Amino acid sequence: MFLRILYILLAIPITFIILHTIIRIIRYFYKFPMPQWMANVIDNPLRRRIQPPDETAIRHGIEPGMRVLEIGPGNGTYTLATARRLGPEGELVTVDIEPKMIERVQHRTKAEGITNIDARVADAYDLPFENESFDLVYMITVINEIPNIPQALAELHRVLKSSGTLVFSELFMDPDYPRAATLTRKVETLNFSLKEKIGKFFYYTLIFEKSK
Ligand SMILES: C[S@@+](CC[C@H](N)C(=O)[O-])C[C@H]1O[C@@H](n2cnc3c(N)ncnc32)[C@H](O)[C@@H]1O
Repeated sequence: MFLRILYILLAIPITFIILHTIIRIIRYFYKFPMPQWMANVIDNPLRRRIQPPDETAIRHGIEPGMRVLEIGPGNGTYTLATARRLGPEGELVTVDIEPKMIERVQHRTKAEGITNIDARVADAYDLPFENESFDLVYMITVINEIPNIPQALAELHRVLKSSGTLVFSELFMDPDYPRAATLTRKVETLNFSLKEKIGKFFYYTLIFEKSK
């Protein structure tokens, strides 16, 4: 009996590591947006414990009254927390390439009576916004789903105000997880400079300033 429990306890992390490695290898060669049915799988109690939505909004430097853009909200848990922190004077625009994700966010926004979220279908490569129109842009476990990162970052650079901030939060549990040093190198070659790194290997946030 004891051995059986031990095998089960060992099998869970080993299965996770094997699956994670296989998915990472596939994703390294073939990038595509997360299927929409996965949105509820990644929004689970364990994740919300490791990466609490309200604390994440604070960590990102969200302040009441800002105009903020989110890329890739998934099912919107972090979107709602960010909108609450922005308050009635602030505005959160959130875009996803997958229409079903936007439908989920719109549904949740309405159900919770939140009025400062504008959720739309759009691609990070081609954002339907004016130049220099946001104080802050953030992405949570999204950047490595985008095949052409320089093209997306050029677009984020365009829509950020000159004093604007670009924020990435990444979790090791995500098969697309980039190492912080690798992501910093990529972003710093594209006219952003690292202002702050918060967190550790398993869950970190990088905050960049628009540098020119
Ligand atoms: C792994 S999910 C993360 C969802 C959410 N940010 C979270 O942390 O729970 C990545 C999201 O990015 C979206 N996405 C991927 N590529 C995109 C692109 N080029 N433009 C906009 N959204 C994109 C996907 O549709 C998906 O909703």
